[in-house]
Amino acid sequence: MKILNPLLAAASALFATASAGVIGHCPVQDKFCMSIGVPESSAASGSGNIYFQVQSVADQYSWVAVGTGTIMSGSNIFVFYTDGAGNVTVSTRRGTGHTLPQPQSDTRVQLLAGSGVANGIMTANVLCQNCESWSGGQMDLQGKSSAWIAAWREGSPLNTQSADARITQHQDTDTFRIDLTQATVTQDANPFVTGAAAGTGNNGNTNSGNNSGTGAGNNGGIGVGNTGGTSSTSGSGPDMLLIHGVIMTAAFALLYPLGSILIVLVRKWYFHVACQVVAFIAMWAGFGTGYTTARNTGTLFKDGHTIFGTVVVSAMVLQPILGSLHHHYFKKNGTRSPVSYAHIWYGRVLMLLGIVNGGVGLRAAGSPQTFTIVYAVIAAMSGVAYVACALVAGMRKGGGSGAERSKEDGSYSPNSATADFGPNRYGYQTGQGADTSRNQQYQFQSRGRGSDEQYGWTR
Ligand SMILES: *[C@@H]1O[C@H](CO)[C@@H](O)[C@H](O)[C@H]1NC(C)=O
Ligand SMILES: *[C@@H]1O[C@H](CO)[C@@H](O)[C@H](O)[C@H]1NC(C)=O
Repeated sequence: MKILNPLLAAASALFATASAGVIGHCPVQDKFCMSIGVPESSAASGSGNIYFQVQSVADQYSWVAVGTGTIMSGSNIFVFYTDGAGNVTVSTRRGTGHTLPQPQSDTRVQLLAGSGVANGIMTANVLCQNCESWSGGQMDLQGKSSAWIAAWREGSPLNTQSADARITQHQDTDTFRIDLTQATVTQDANPFVTGAAAGTGNNGNTNSGNNSGTGAGNNGGIGVGNTGGTSSTSGSGPDMLLIHGVIMTAAFALLYPLGSILIVLVRKWYFHVACQVVAFIAMWAGFGTGYTTARNTGTLFKDGHTIFGTVVVSAMVLQPILGSLHHHYFKKNGTRSPVSYAHIWYGRVLMLLGIVNGGVGLRAAGSPQTFTIVYAVIAAMSGVAYVACALVAGMRKGGGSGAERSKEDGSYSPNSATADFGPNRYGYQTGQGADTSRNQQYQFQSRGRGSDEQYGWTR
């Protein structure tokens, strides 16, 4: 029996290792993986210690993060980065939607043995003592479909021991589910360093044979031994957010202003309509990408940008209707109606609000400064072009022709320098005195019903 005791102990230790139901998931295959083990005692009581491990290629990521919950907003987030001294900094944060997750210390975590940077791999073995609940959510330690999120940023390692380090916006995200009933471990102890693997920093969680070429020259690679019970639902990439930004910039800062300028410069209503239709379609495509991104990051209708953006985009639906009403009225009566001014000013206000909301979105997304600068330059150039056009239109009118035109069709507001700028230019009112023949031609068209067909304008 004297011999048997240590043998039994060894056997049970071995058994503990073998039966460790640690399961995991790789947000980035071979490069960033996490595993979790829930002690039976914690699973039974519904609270207490849980253990998880996060591994990533050390020199490739600025930081990596996992969090509990379905969405970033309200998630219990753990950010990991190298501490610059061969170990890992764990930063617990509260997900707040679009903005930088704020450091918090409510979550009790401990970095455990086996953590560190070895063979090019950053390993964090973590004990969390109260992960079953946090302000913002709860996790059922026996949940069959426990929701997790992950995020990461490629780049040079942060190398800081500060848990409050400012992190750059994530580059990509992943959401996945773990069946915690398959993650139970018998003992309430670090399941990642049992047995012979202790202290190597790579505890047997290697890939199933094929992990050559992870790039870091590591010997084991990164992977998880058991992915059974986890499922991944692909998250919204940064691409979606980028596409959203590019499309919306094109729509609000370029196309809408351009369409408004065209009606003044080219004076053909169909160019104006064509441009605004393209902008309108682009805007809805931008809304779609924004909606998807916001839904995946949990920010939908939870921050100013998404709410305000939805309002502006929805309000824009009225604009083609106003334009069409104006057009019909003008065609029939040869004069502007209140709806004409509504069309002009409604459009101006929405364009401006859209551009402002773009800035809000850039800020909320923590976009690189370059993006903000490019956006500001585009918006400013459009703004200058727009105002210049409005002034030119005003000067044209001010140059004597306005009176003439007022006499002719009474469609001009003599006291508004920019009133000309907009749908009144639907190609009918091009004259401004200088080009009398054209003017008359258009006057004719604006009154003669026969010309409708010629312009293909539906009644
Ligand atoms: C990292 O820190 C943990 C917790 O203090 C410790 O157990 C571990 O040995 C450290 N790793 C290295 C490589 O120093
Ligand atoms: C290993 O990975 C390479 C590259 O991804 C792939 O072509 C190959 O089929 C894999 N081999 C095995 C055994 O999975």
